[in-house]
Amino acid sequence: MAGELDAYWMPFTANRQFRQAPRMLARASGMSYWTADGRELVDGTAGLWCVNAGHGRPEIVAAIAQQAAEMDYAPPFQIGHPKAFELARRVVDLAPDGLDHVFFTNSGSESVETALKIAIAYHRARGEGSRVRLIGRERGYHGVNFGGTAVGGMVANRKVFGALVAGVDHLRHTHDLSRNAFTRGQPEHGAELADELERLVALHDASTIAAVIVEPMAGSTGVLLPPKGYLQRLREICSKHGILLIFDEVITGFGRLGTPFAAQHYGVTPDLMTVAKGITNGGVPMGAVLASEAIHQAFMNGPDGVELFHGYTYSAHPLACAAGLATLDVYAKEGLLTRAAEVAPYWEEALHSLKGLPGVIDIRNTGLVGAIEFAPSAAGPGKRGFAVFQGCWDRGALVRAAGDNIALSPPLIIERQHIDRLVGILGEAIKATA
Ligand SMILES: Cc1ncc(COP(=O)(O)O)c(C=O)c1O
Repeated sequence: MAGELDAYWMPFTANRQFRQAPRMLARASGMSYWTADGRELVDGTAGLWCVNAGHGRPEIVAAIAQQAAEMDYAPPFQIGHPKAFELARRVVDLAPDGLDHVFFTNSGSESVETALKIAIAYHRARGEGSRVRLIGRERGYHGVNFGGTAVGGMVANRKVFGALVAGVDHLRHTHDLSRNAFTRGQPEHGAELADELERLVALHDASTIAAVIVEPMAGSTGVLLPPKGYLQRLREICSKHGILLIFDEVITGFGRLGTPFAAQHYGVTPDLMTVAKGITNGGVPMGAVLASEAIHQAFMNGPDGVELFHGYTYSAHPLACAAGLATLDVYAKEGLLTRAAEVAPYWEEALHSLKGLPGVIDIRNTGLVGAIEFAPSAAGPGKRGFAVFQGCWDRGALVRAAGDNIALSPPLIIERQHIDRLVGILGEAIKATA
């Protein structure tokens, strides 16, 4: 068996450990996966924050199959196809007012690179070419390409890749267990951390800063919610200094928090927004950047010809567009983009019932997102988180370990019975790893 697994170099995986005891998925439907040996797992992660409408939706499957037969591929440079325009319009209809233009990519990472490049090019188009600095945040995750790794704030993702991109700085993260542990929803304390941006402006001068990029709710380092007032303050400071605000909504987009996008949930509109994942329900890779009218216009006022020398062979891929349109239909028909808000109270109670279990030092939740944080075990940081993940896998639930956090982001179709099962399994796994 081991030899058969050698060729595939798995991403973000302990490959050698995996080959000793592979975890293989074979099938998925609705709220469940099935392992290669036939065990059912309740999906506590919507795959990887992407299968928001649940698995194997026949409408989406049919749309992809039909598109593959009708037109498999269309070159996106200087040529269009109708579904690309239709999907862009449908996404704009869902987006916060003012984000009126969509640039298609194939992943969250590409969306981030695209947004960062648009930000720099925007300032240059307006004659402010000195604005090239990019500000990220500690514990942020913006994918794995050079720009996204540079503005990201996960040390393991950065430290072995050298100097990355020049001119990047970081805000402090907002996670503060001493003041906010076991908060339900947004933490009370920490809005003042947005003032960090004033400090960076004082250090670098606003005339050198192009953009600030944050996840409105940071997912990958274990679900860190923005303190009350924090995003509003960040918005104000950006506007005051002419700095673009980019929200990375790759995981918060498409209903995760109970509104189509987190920007609407928090009442703060960025200048650029990156999305991916839920745009096609995970069925075909796709990402996008949404841009404000002002940003788009700055490019459209330039000389005749190509306004932005940027794009991907697979931008607005016909299969992705077909999947995206079918996905948005399912979301609309079933009210999924607001369903998280309805389920959230039950979800919150269920998660917080785990308080008091051994090693649990925090529980966080919003919409259909949750996290349980553990004190690191004597074996070292991250070991307990991984042990709980494995314990859940063995007992019939797919959850995600992020260091010593378990992050949860189930499909938005989740019912109470699935929540009970998921949280029941989690409780058993936590007790077993104590
Ligand atoms: C906030 C955020 N940005 C970017 C990405 C990268 O997306 P992808 O893995 O599709 O490149 C992710 C992935 O989880 C993410 O959570």
